[in-house]
Amino acid sequence: MRHSAHRRDDAGGERAPEADPSPAPVDAELDELMAGLAEPQKRVSSKYFYDAVGSSLFQRITELPEYYPTRTEAALLQRVALVWMAEHAPASLAELGAGSAEKSRILIRSMLAAGTGRHFLAADVSGTFLERSARALREEFPELVVHTAVGDMTREIPSLHSLPAPRWLILLGSTIGNFDDDAARALLRRARGRLEPGDAFLLGVDLRPGPTKSLDELEAAYNDAEGVTAAFNRNILTVLNRRFGCDFDPEQFEHLAFYDEASHRIEMHLVSRIPQVVRVPGREEVRFAAGETLRTEISCKYDRPGVEAMAADAGLRLRRWEEEDGRFALALLTPG
Ligand code: SAH
Ligand code: AVI
Repeated sequence: MRHSAHRRDDAGGERAPEADPSPAPVDAELDELMAGLAEPQKRVSSKYFYDAVGSSLFQRITELPEYYPTRTEAALLQRVALVWMAEHAPASLAELGAGSAEKSRILIRSMLAAGTGRHFLAADVSGTFLERSARALREEFPELVVHTAVGDMTREIPSLHSLPAPRWLILLGSTIGNFDDDAARALLRRARGRLEPGDAFLLGVDLRPGPTKSLDELEAAYNDAEGVTAAFNRNILTVLNRRFGCDFDPEQFEHLAFYDEASHRIEMHLVSRIPQVVRVPGREEVRFAAGETLRTEISCKYDRPGVEAMAADAGLRLRRWEEEDGRFALALLTPG
């Protein structure tokens, strides 16, 4: 995990947004990629969506009329931030998977307005985009001390030691839903390990379809009319080509997203249009039959008992729960 803290912009100017200077893939990553591609249902980690292009495409997704989670969560944050902060006055905020940190601004403003703290740690796997977000935050909030940490949250959660207590660790956007149940539970346990008495964990979760959110509405959020989600989905192949030197042809794969009722999750896939062979340097080639799919993402949907159970399993207690009409919820969890 690479860490840094600044109050001013780095010298050296902007990087081209297209090229993420990914470090050379380590064997473990290549092993993980090949293991996923060898499964009967081929799959790849959704963390590879987020090079600079993918992060920008995700940013566009959050502005689409169909993608309700972002604006619903923003409305919830506006509603509870000041009240919850009055009770659990954080001196610093640390956000996992911060991305553009757009919604974090609501929390930052509340923390600065309450005068309880002025530290913000933004952590993300997408380094170039993260530094851009951090620069924008420093410009917008000159009094804020902005720290950054680049890394994979499924492997490590940044240390919070350099941040004044009490701290809020934050995971918004229902990003937890992009991990399977085991990985999500492990993530919460690791998060719990970073927290001390007085700290809290703020979690945003997308809720299951029901009377206030139809299946159609949920599926439309992942099948927008403009095709931005399809472009986001296909971009993962470009990232894999750059990172691992493989030769996926994104044009030969079609976007597919649907809700699986049994596992309470959206699944995103790329469907091979034709029989094709993909080369991965140094490894065995990967064959796709026509119509065969590569699963690129799961997006699990939750209910309150499920979140409570998952939290309890990690040694966290649900202190506050606020939901927008059965559509999206914020949970404030505390250790013990
Ligand atoms: N928090 C923002 C962004 C959500 S998009 C919001 O709510 O709108 C998911 C973010 O998590 C992206 O910025 C992506 O780069 C990051 N991310 C995805 N997988 C990750 C991983 N394994 N480790 C760290 N960050 C990850
Ligand atoms: C970041 N994550 C919670 C988004 C989601 O809804 O699962 C990613 C996304 N995939 C397609 N659209 C948005």
